[in-house]
Amino acid sequence: MAKRERRWLGGKVVAITGGARGIGRTTAQALVRKGCRVAIGDLHLDLAEQTAAELGGGTIALPLDVTDRSSFASFLDAVDRELGPIDVLINNAGIMPVTAFREEADDSIRRQIDINVYGLITGTQLAIERMLPRHTGHIVNVASSAGKAGVPGIATYSGTKHAVVGFTEAIRAELRDSGIEFSCVMPVTVNTALTEGVADTRGVKKVEPEEVADEIVDALEMPRFDVFIPRTLKFTLAAGSLLPRRWREAVARLMGIDKIMTEVPKSARQAYEERAAASRSGADAEKPVEREAA
Ligand code: NAI
Repeated sequence: MAKRERRWLGGKVVAITGGARGIGRTTAQALVRKGCRVAIGDLHLDLAEQTAAELGGGTIALPLDVTDRSSFASFLDAVDRELGPIDVLINNAGIMPVTAFREEADDSIRRQIDINVYGLITGTQLAIERMLPRHTGHIVNVASSAGKAGVPGIATYSGTKHAVVGFTEAIRAELRDSGIEFSCVMPVTVNTALTEGVADTRGVKKVEPEEVADEIVDALEMPRFDVFIPRTLKFTLAAGSLLPRRWREAVARLMGIDKIMTEVPKSARQAYEERAAASRSGADAEKPVEREAA
């Protein structure tokens, strides 16, 4: 088989949703270092502007609510106007409320579906429209390991991330000969605000956002669909899938994975949960966006 060349990312125009902080911010930083022209879109424009200024390299910050189709279209138009035709879209914005499902409020369910699923699907469609005429582009959808195996305490979130994996698999097959590449990113728990209060277990240790950013950069340089972080997760999931379901669940219990989200102290999550609950969605879009510090 012919050896594939690593792609040069210098000068590529990259748009990242939810890039003001966390994985989005770290990925933006890694891509700026590679010479990309990066636009970060976020609900919190003030924080996005601060991040863009700190990252330098001509990074721009733009307002974006992924749950609002016209906001997403305006974001991509502004990227085109200010940086040039989009080469890469990283659909990263997402929220993860932690709660027992039987106690979960309707607006928490709705908001996760709006941000994690509707926003990502809409962004993919709008980016495809812009990439198809050029027969080139790369769409990176950030799912989660919870998109491969459901986790108690984050049932709705697990459902949204399974949707991201299934959607991205389908669209890749549908657009196989279009020149557009797709990647699906599936990290275990990552050390960001989203996992505030979530402890490591025997089976799952948090990775740093830099490891996720490095794998996203690698997948852009050497295009591949499945991006597991850590890479060994691919083998863990494959081995688990060979076991009968009851054994697989028993192993997960042995590793403490069943308790990772159910035993999080509520007080440790309060700041994150309040912020996630204030994230806009179609259902509550009339509420003003809160200004907040880093
Ligand atoms: P984070 O909470 O640190 O950052 C998320 C960013 O998304 C924030 O800047 C927030 O303002 C923005 N955002 C939220 N709603 C938005 C909306 N409607 N429109 C535009 N921007 C919006 O979260 P983190 O950890 O960086 O997560 C990023 C992605 O990675 C999410 O999709 C998450 O589900 C996924 N992920 C995270 C893991 C983790 O353990 N931290 C593990 C696996 C996946």
